[in-house]
Amino acid sequence: MKTKICKTGDLPDNTMKSFDVEGEPVLVARVNGEYYSIADTCSHAMAYLSEGELLEGCQVQCPDHGAIFDLRTGEALALPAVSPVETYKVTVEGEDVFVEI
Ligand code: FES
Repeated sequence: MKTKICKTGDLPDNTMKSFDVEGEPVLVARVNGEYYSIADTCSHAMAYLSEGELLEGCQVQCPDHGAIFDLRTGEALALPAVSPVETYKVTVEGEDVFVEI
């Protein structure tokens, strides 16, 4: 299901935000003009990844215990998380940004 989440101007380059998509917390990041989306829930415990830090190389660090995830694949790159997080497709039509979950 494709859901419009924001306008391109609402998400400046090299930032990330959390959106409620169909009741699910979804993180959308814009890195060097490209959009990425993953579940906004750490696979280690209950933390919102969007409250963490956007790192170089399309990575996000969990605010609670420092696990790192790849925004492109959802892969857990650093402990204590070992399981990946879900990734979602982002599309841009004109100025509208959509996420499919
Ligand atoms: S909750 Fe994310 S690393 Fe522990």
